Amino acid sequence: MSEDIKRLTRFVDDDNQRHIDTAMGNGVYDGLKKALEEHQPKDIVDILKASGLRGRGGAGFPTGLKWSFVPVKAEKPKYLCCNADEGEPGTFKDRLIMERDPHMLIEGIVIACYAIGIRDAYIYIRGEFVKPADILDEAIDEAYEKGFLGENILGKNFECHITVHRGAGAYVCGEETGLIESLEGKRGQPRLKPPFPAIVGAFQGPTVVNNVETLSNVPWIIVNGAEKYAEVGSERNPGTRIFGVSGMVEKPGLYELPMGTTLQELLDIAGGVKDGKKLKAIIPGGSSAPAMSPKELDTKMDFDSLMKAGSMAGSGGMIVLDETVCLVRVTRRLLEFYAHESCGQCTPCREGVPWMLRIVRNIELGKGKMSDIKQILKICDNIKMRTLCPLGDAAAMPTEGFVKKFKSEFTKHIQTGECTVGGPLGCDRRPRKIDHH
Ligand SMILES: Cc1cc2nc3c(=O)[nH]c(=O)nc-3n(C[C@H](O)[C@H](O)[C@H](O)COP(=O)(O)O)c2cc1C
Repeated sequence: MSEDIKRLTRFVDDDNQRHIDTAMGNGVYDGLKKALEEHQPKDIVDILKASGLRGRGGAGFPTGLKWSFVPVKAEKPKYLCCNADEGEPGTFKDRLIMERDPHMLIEGIVIACYAIGIRDAYIYIRGEFVKPADILDEAIDEAYEKGFLGENILGKNFECHITVHRGAGAYVCGEETGLIESLEGKRGQPRLKPPFPAIVGAFQGPTVVNNVETLSNVPWIIVNGAEKYAEVGSERNPGTRIFGVSGMVEKPGLYELPMGTTLQELLDIAGGVKDGKKLKAIIPGGSSAPAMSPKELDTKMDFDSLMKAGSMAGSGGMIVLDETVCLVRVTRRLLEFYAHESCGQCTPCREGVPWMLRIVRNIELGKGKMSDIKQILKICDNIKMRTLCPLGDAAAMPTEGFVKKFKSEFTKHIQTGECTVGGPLGCDRRPRKIDHH
C-alpha cells in the first residue's frame, strides 16, 4: 500500500496526535478554516455531493445527499449525531479514529454543522468505549480553548457545541432512530420511519446521523477537493475505507485501502489465512453481511460490488473463517447475539430470531431434521424487510447466507448427527441457555 493512499490514518501512529498542538501542526483544522473562510454552507453540501462520499456506518448512503434533505430553515433546532456506537461484531475502526486522531473527527463534525446550519452536535458513543470517550472529552476541551468550538468560531458568526453522550451498550442503539431515542434518555428502541430523522429526529428537530469514519473524511475533502477525493476508489464508491480484519488471519488489524480493494487483496495484505490453513468463508462487512465463499475472493469490497454478489460492504469489518470452524456453530453464535440484541418491539424479529436460534442449536446438538433447512429459510423470508428496523435483516441475511451457500455443512450435520470439523471450534454441545425473550 502506498503511503499517500492513507487519508484517515496518516497520523495514527503518532502518540501525540490526540493533542491539539500536534494535530494542528499536522494540518488538522485547516479544513475548517478553509470551509469558513472560502465557502458558504451550501457550497460545502455541494462539495460533499460532488465527492460522492458514502456513509461508512453500514448502508453506504451518499453523505451530501443526506445533508441536503435537512431543511435550511426549520422551526425546531437541528442536530447532528455522530454515531460512535460501533456495535457491529467484527468492527473496530471508529475506535481507532477516536483514540488516535480525535481532532480529525471533531473538525469533520464542526464542518458538517456549519454546512447544515446546526449549533449542537452529539457524539453517541457506546458505554464500553471508556477510553475513547475520555480522549474525546479532552480533545473537545482543547478545541474550545483554541476557538474551534463555542461562539464566533474563527471570528465568524457561527456557534457550535459538541457533547459526548455515553450509551449503555446495546447494539440496537447504533440504529439511527434507536440512537436518537437513547440520546433523548429513553429506552433505545427504533422509531417507525417515515418520518426520517432529517425531518423529525432528536428532540423532534431535523437531525443528521453520520458515522465517525464518514465525518472524518469531510476535512480531507474540503482541503483537497471533491475531484481529488474521487481519484481513489471504485466507480460510485470513491475514497478509502478503514477495513477491519479479524478471525483466522496472520495479521489481524485495521488497513486503510481504496474502496474496491478485492477480498483477496485484503486477505493477502493481512498475511493470508493463519498457519496456512484452508479458507472456508469470509464475512466481508461486519457480522450482518452474508458470508462469501473462497470462490468469490475477486469481489471488490465496495457497496455496489458486494451487494451485486449477494452480500454487503456494511461496516467494513472482514471476518476470516478457516477450515477448523464449524459454520453451524458460527450461525448459532451469531443468532444468539441477534436474539439477545433484538429490542422486542416487533414480532418478526422478537419471535423469529430466537426461533431460528432454537432450530440451529438443535442441528448443532445433532438433533436436526432435513425440514429444518426449509424452515430456517422460510423464517428468514418472513423477517427480511418486514421488521421495524434493519436489525431483523441483520440477523436473517447472514443466516440465510450460511444456510444457502454452505448448505452441505448443515445437511451433513443433520444426516450424520456429527460435526463436520470437530475439534475446539466444532459444535459446542455443552448445555446453554438459548431463549432470551
Ligand atoms: C441494528 C443496527 C446497528 C447499527 N449500528 C451502527 C453503528 O454502530 N455505527 C454506525 O455508524 N451505524 C450503525 N448502523 C447504521 C445507522 O443506522 C446509520 O445508517 C448510520 O449511522 C448512518 O451514518 P452514515 O450515513 O455516515 O453511514 C446500525 C444500523 C442498524 C440497523
